[in-house]
Order: sequence, then C-alpha cells, then structure tokens
Amino acid sequence: MKKLTINKAMRGLRGELIIPGDKSVSHRSVMFSALGSKPVRIKNFLPSADCLSTVACMKALGADVDIISDTELVVKGNGLNGLKEPATLLDAGNSGTTLRLLMGILSAQPFVSTFTGDASLHKRPMGRVIKPLSMMGAKIVGREGNKKLPITVIPAEGCLKGISYDSPVASAQVKSAILLAGLFADGRTTVTEPYVSRNHTELMLEAMGVKLEYAGTSVSLEAPDELKMPEELIVPGDISSAAYWLVAGSIIPDSELLLKNVGINPTRTGIIDVLRNMGADITMLNERVSGAEPVADILVKSAKLHGTEFGADIMPRLIDEIPAIAVAAMFADGDTVITGAGELRVKETDRLQAITDQYNKLMDCIEGTEDGLVIHGSGKESVKASCFSYDDHRMAMSIAILGLAGAGAEIEEPDCVRISYPDFYKELEELTK
Ligand code: S3P
Repeated sequence: MKKLTINKAMRGLRGELIIPGDKSVSHRSVMFSALGSKPVRIKNFLPSADCLSTVACMKALGADVDIISDTELVVKGNGLNGLKEPATLLDAGNSGTTLRLLMGILSAQPFVSTFTGDASLHKRPMGRVIKPLSMMGAKIVGREGNKKLPITVIPAEGCLKGISYDSPVASAQVKSAILLAGLFADGRTTVTEPYVSRNHTELMLEAMGVKLEYAGTSVSLEAPDELKMPEELIVPGDISSAAYWLVAGSIIPDSELLLKNVGINPTRTGIIDVLRNMGADITMLNERVSGAEPVADILVKSAKLHGTEFGADIMPRLIDEIPAIAVAAMFADGDTVITGAGELRVKETDRLQAITDQYNKLMDCIEGTEDGLVIHGSGKESVKASCFSYDDHRMAMSIAILGLAGAGAEIEEPDCVRISYPDFYKELEELTK
C-alpha cells in the first residue's frame, strides 16, 4: 500500500484490546532458547517482521523452530556451544535488536558469519557494539571503519575475555550484546550504563539459571556451563504497542479503553509516569507476574492533559514511546519540553527530525532541538495533510493517532507497522467503525 487515509475520530474510542507480544522479549525468547538443548515452548510470541528476522537467523544458525501457531513456537537448540555456521547471509531486516544481540553471541563462535539488513539498518551505528566486543577479543569487520553493515564476524583467537565496560549510552542492545558475549568469555563480564536500560536479557538469563550480579547501574555475569531451559516462556504484551492506545485514549474525548495483558516491567513504564504527570487517567488492574515479567490490564480514560518536562534520566524507560508521547503533548495545555533524547536520531529513522517535519504538517507547534523537542500544546488548529512515515513503524502509528485525534491524515508508506504491530490498522478500524 502506498498511502493510507486516517479519518478524524467522530467519537471516543471505547472497548478492549489484547496487546500483542513484546518485541524485545520475543527476540530474546527465540535467541536464548536456541542456546539450550531442551525444547522451549514460547507463548504469545509477536509474529512481526522484526521478530521473524530473528527466527530466520536462528534457523540459519542451526536451531529447530516449530511454528505451532502465529503466536506459539517451540524452539530447540543444541546446547550453549551448538550453533552451526550459516550457509547464507544473516539478514536482520529492519531489526537493530537482531543484529546487535546476535553479534554478541556470534563473536564467540568458531565460524564466520556475515550480516546484512535493510536500508535503514545499513545507516545505523554498530560501532557502539563492535567496540566493546573487540575489547573482549572479538574479530568483527564492517563498513566505514567497523561501524556499519555489512558486517562479518570472524572466529576470535582463543576464548573471549570478560571485560568491565562503561557504556557511554544507556542501551539495552549494547548491554545485551556484551552480556551475551560474556556467556562464552573467560572471567567476569560487567556492563555499566549511565541509566539502567530495559532488563529483559537479565530476567530471561536468570530464568535460564545464569547468576547475575547488580550494583547501581552495573550488571555482571560469568560464563555458565549451560543454559537451563524452562519448559515454556511467556511473552508479555508490548507496552510500546499499548503506547498508541494510551495516548489516543487520553486525548480523544469520551474514550475509555481497556488494554489487556500489558508488560509493566519498570524499565519500560516511563510513558505511564509521563502521561500521569500530564494529568492522564490511567489505572492499573489485575497486576500479576507472567513468566519472568510483570503484567497488568491498563484502563485509560480521556482526560485534559497539560504540558510537562522530562529528560535523560527517564529516557531509557520510554525511548520508543517519544513519537506517541509527542502526539499527547500536542493536545495538552501548555508547553512540553523533552531533552536528552539524542538517541532518537539513530533509530529506524532520525525520529526527532521526522517528528518535527511531519507532525508540523498536521499541527504546526513543534520546535526541534539538538537532543529533544519543544511542543507548544493545544494552541494550534489541526489540518488534514499527507505525512511520510520514513518507513518507520513507530512514526506511522503515531501519525495515525495524531490524525485520529486531529483533522485526519494520510500516511505515506504505511505498511511498516508490520515491523512491530501487524494488526495495528485492523484494531484501529475496529475501534472507529
Ligand atoms: C531494544 C532496545 C532499545 C529500543 C529497541 C529495542 C531492545 O534500543 O529502542 O526498540 O530490544 O533491546 P537501544 O538499546 O539502542 O536503546
């Protein structure tokens, strides 16, 4: 599809939505299960393009993956040292998580592997992972001085060695790549971040019997003899997908949405804190633990929002939600000032630039700064216009809710929602028909 028209919502959004599986946890469930020697049943897997890139890579590396249904897989590996040399290029598609985490695992393997990906992934910085892995003894070569795809991982001379790495960025992909290489390294591997990023790798490795130690913003581990596979892994719903409904439900008058089975891992719930600070009416119901992760049903009702300020300290907890939060800020009273968001410039597209260029076509109220946004809420009339998604799933979904809450929108290149939320437009249609 070249273009999709989103009409202004004629009434509030009301109903229940079951939020699809978490993308970060789905990737990890397949990757880590492929390092065990017992079959693991993965439930509520997210069958999105990104996660299917991980499935294809793990199959190419010798894992057995049985597709039971769209959302249920059984994965079996051949033990911690059982991966085999892939006969083809490993195609990570649009997925930074697939590429960066797998680089960590493959750095320690006795065979050569070469990665490729789509046009967006070719532009994204990989030096942040290649540098620490090289300090561990990994041999990785990539374009532009070992910083970009295509990337080849060559067997290291001998065993990788554990390091203590002070990461300049709070990035779960960097942290996870190093910890995963640490599963195969001699000695202790420690990663320290400026702020703690999402901890799904840590929780899942612990569920597989690995002992991790935490101190402040540091986490460390030593190589285990094996990963002890649980019989099943249950993926929580993705709060990053719930984000669009949390915002739409807040800003479209007379809305009331119950979002079921949403992961509420505290390293991911920054959006709840920010929306509540803005005056949102959000209630957590039925809080429980599902697998290794906390989940809840979240009730959101429309509310009058006001502007807010937030910065670097909360950023890792809401990094993927900025495009949605920016939409909320456009409908809030007063200014919202976002700082410390420079990482958005190296996501699937430069999201700070994309937000200012595209959202302003619909409601001209956003100023971009070097590392953030200043959003002058509620003051402007919204108009219907055509906006480019940059083939970035989070941009497409955010433009959709912006159009819904405003005067409508046309989304150019809308199909990219398949990356993380294949049924997004179907759900939107159901809620608005
Ligand atoms: C992810 C970590 C984040 C996030 C990405 C998924 C993960 O990236 O933006 O969508 O699964 O570890 P960074 O680690 O680069 O911040």
